[in-house]
Parts: sequence; structure tokens; C-alpha cells
Amino acid sequence: MNMDIVLGLQWGDEGKGKFIDLISEDYDITARFNGGANAGHSIERNGKRITLKSLPSGIFMNGVQNVIGTGTVLDPVSFRKEILNLQQFDGAVQPEKNLIISRKAHLVLPTYRLLDIFMEENPDYTTIGTTRNGIAQAYSNKILRQNLRVGDIESADFKSRVEHILERDYRMLAGGDMIFPSLEEIRNEFFDAIDFLKKFIRTETEIFLNKALSDGKRILAEGSQAAMLDIDHGTYPYVTSSSTTAAGASSGLGISPKKVGEIFGIAKAYCTRVGNGMFPTEIFDELGEEIRNRGNEFGSNTGRPRRIGWLDLPALRYAIMINGVTQVILTKADVLSGIESVAVCTHYELEDGRNEMISGNLPENAIPALKLMKGWEGDISMINDASDLPAELKDFLSFLNQELGVPVTYLSTGPGRDQILKIKELELVK
Ligand code: IMP
Repeated sequence: MNMDIVLGLQWGDEGKGKFIDLISEDYDITARFNGGANAGHSIERNGKRITLKSLPSGIFMNGVQNVIGTGTVLDPVSFRKEILNLQQFDGAVQPEKNLIISRKAHLVLPTYRLLDIFMEENPDYTTIGTTRNGIAQAYSNKILRQNLRVGDIESADFKSRVEHILERDYRMLAGGDMIFPSLEEIRNEFFDAIDFLKKFIRTETEIFLNKALSDGKRILAEGSQAAMLDIDHGTYPYVTSSSTTAAGASSGLGISPKKVGEIFGIAKAYCTRVGNGMFPTEIFDELGEEIRNRGNEFGSNTGRPRRIGWLDLPALRYAIMINGVTQVILTKADVLSGIESVAVCTHYELEDGRNEMISGNLPENAIPALKLMKGWEGDISMINDASDLPAELKDFLSFLNQELGVPVTYLSTGPGRDQILKIKELELVK
């Protein structure tokens, strides 16, 4: 058996949660391999929406085992809030039974959030526009080999090691003029959350997952953030601090790349990004505002308005290449319904010629070449069969198939759980 992977191909918020929710019924295990409480995977259940942060999307299905893998960072305080919120949302969930957490996943200590704020507001540092969840602090302490892991909560000196880090960080925070909660307050909240975390199964998830594959179980690896936010391949420094790619799924879960099967890449019919950094197809006029409002493009984690841009094919080709994407899932085409002409960036014009790909960073004077396509009309969210889609949208999809070299196999047509169409390639060939 192989592990399949779902990934975002742009700058996050592509609608991964909904697609994962749809297909997770076909899997025995869903596993998170990167990131932490910076994610926000929105899922609809019985007409209500919930945003999952650190929890895998299979958490609602008691038959599905959920894994928080080694490549993630876990904030115990946020985890407790998330579980309590989940239990309020759906009384039938049983996370004590169907969730296991890697003992090697790294902990987010409470000072890390404060340091994120400290650095974002301090002119000595580049402002990234982070979600302020302490993600970069956790990963950098991990790389410095100064951090604590989930497995450490059982050790006798855990408390004193935490105290040491908190005091160290408070000395740094004291160097600024910002006011933060007292050390006492965050320490107590953290240790309470650690007691809560002890109710959950903490184990060697690599061994569990590899054994599951040998036993014929199906695993779905669930990516957080997206390819263009990858620490190595994204638009550095305006990226997150983890490996968001298919290779990150292998290393974050301890599963050989030889065992990877399908790689589903999720892309919106346009682009959005929150936080700072390169965004060559950004739309600055009222149309951008209109798309933002129609698509409810406000951060599910932070509430920040998302920046809006046209679909960027060079960036998408790059993301497909570095991930080895086998199928593209296109979301939010319904948001563009009724817009007279829809633009797509096909390449960049650079001083030394055409550029078919965006490779993480682009010279400032690069000009995105936009192809205008006739827009589609009507409420496509009610369509149940792809053959009934407006001709202009079919043209748009077949153009993407040609340009990307990878088929669009699903089209999401609305926020609802059932508003997704399977696209058969043949229907698109003119
Ligand atoms: P951090 O991951 O909180 O350190 O933020 C780094 C960058 O990644 C910022 O631009 C964030 O807005 C962005 N980011 C992090 N997580 C997400 C996400 O789940 N969706 C979209 N952008 C994200």
C-alpha cells in the first residue's frame, strides 16, 4: 500500500480541508506532517463550519486513525482549546481514542508566540507577517537543538527544562518596550495544558505508520500551508518555517518516498496570500476587493484580509514540478462567476526573455503576462454533473490541462461539502 498526499500549491488557503474531508473516508489513517496551529483547515459538518488547526481532518470519523506526525510542532495550549472546541462542536468525536501524537513532534512553548510578536514589531528584524503562533521560534529552537519534544513531557526534569527556556526568553523580551503577560501566568496555563495532553496517546508514529502500510492500510498525508510557503522552495523569507512539500510529507512522517502514491495538488482558480512577500499577479483595484468579499477571503486563523491575485501558472507549474503532483483539484471557480473576463498569468517577461516558471523569487522588474479569457456566468454551485458546466469554464479548465501538463480531476463549486464535481478529462477535449 502507498501513502497519498494532499498539498496546497499556492500560498495557502486553497481549500485543502474540504477536499481532504471528502476523500478521507477512503483512508484508514490521516496524518499531519508539518506546521502546527498556524494552519486553518475549514470543514463543514451538518451545515456548521469548524476550523481545524493542529488536528487531522479525519478526526470526525471514529473509524479513521489520526496522526500528528514528527515534522509538526504542537502547542499544548492551543491543542487543548482546539480539542475542547471540537468536542463542543460534535459530541461524538473521540480524540482520546482515534488520535496519536508523535513523541518526536516538537513543542511550541508559550514564549514562542510572544517572541513572534516581539520580532514582528521590532525594526531589527524583517517583518514576515506571521500568524503569530510561534511556529518559526519552535522550528528554529529545533534546528538549534535547544527545544523540547512531546516525548519529553514524561521526563523527570521536564518542568525545570521548560522553566529554563521561559526565563531565557523573558530576558530577551525584556529588551523591548512591549508589555507581555507575566511569566507566572503563561507558565501555569502551559503546565495545565501539558496535564491535558497526557490524556492522549503519544507514540513512535513512524513505526505505527510503516506497520500500517505493511498491513495494507491506506494513509492520507495532509499538508498544511502550501508549496510557495515552503522554507526551502517558497518565496523566502516570506515563507513558513516547515517543509510543506511532498518530500516534507516523507520526512515529516518517516515514510520512504518509494511508498508515495497519488499527490493531490489543490489550487484556487485565482490566487491569495496573507502576510508579506512577492505576489506578482496581485489585483489592487475594486475587482480584487470584490473577489475578496465574494470568496470570503479573510484568514481562517487570523481574520486578516487576504491579498488577491490572478491565477499564476508559472508558480503553479513550479509547485507541480517540485511536488510531483499527479492530479490538480481546482477550487473556488464559483467565486469568479459573473466576472466578464478572467485573467491568467501564462509567463513572465524578463529582461533576458520569457520565463515559464517562478522559482521562489522573481526579479522585481518581471512583468506578468496576462491572458484574458471570457468569464462564465450563473450559479455553478447547483450543478451536479461536470458536463453541465458553462462552456467558458470548460475552456478555462481545458486551457489549464494543456498548460499544466497534469489533469484537473475535481472542481469545487461552492463551500458546501457536496459542492464538488469529478471532472473527466474527455469532457473537456473540444
Ligand atoms: P507562520 O507560519 O505563522 O510563521 O507565518 C509565515 C507566513 O506563512 C506568513 O506569511 C503567514 O501568513 C503564512 N501562513 C502560515 N500558515 C498559513 C496558512 O495556513 N495559510 C496561509 N498562509 C499561512
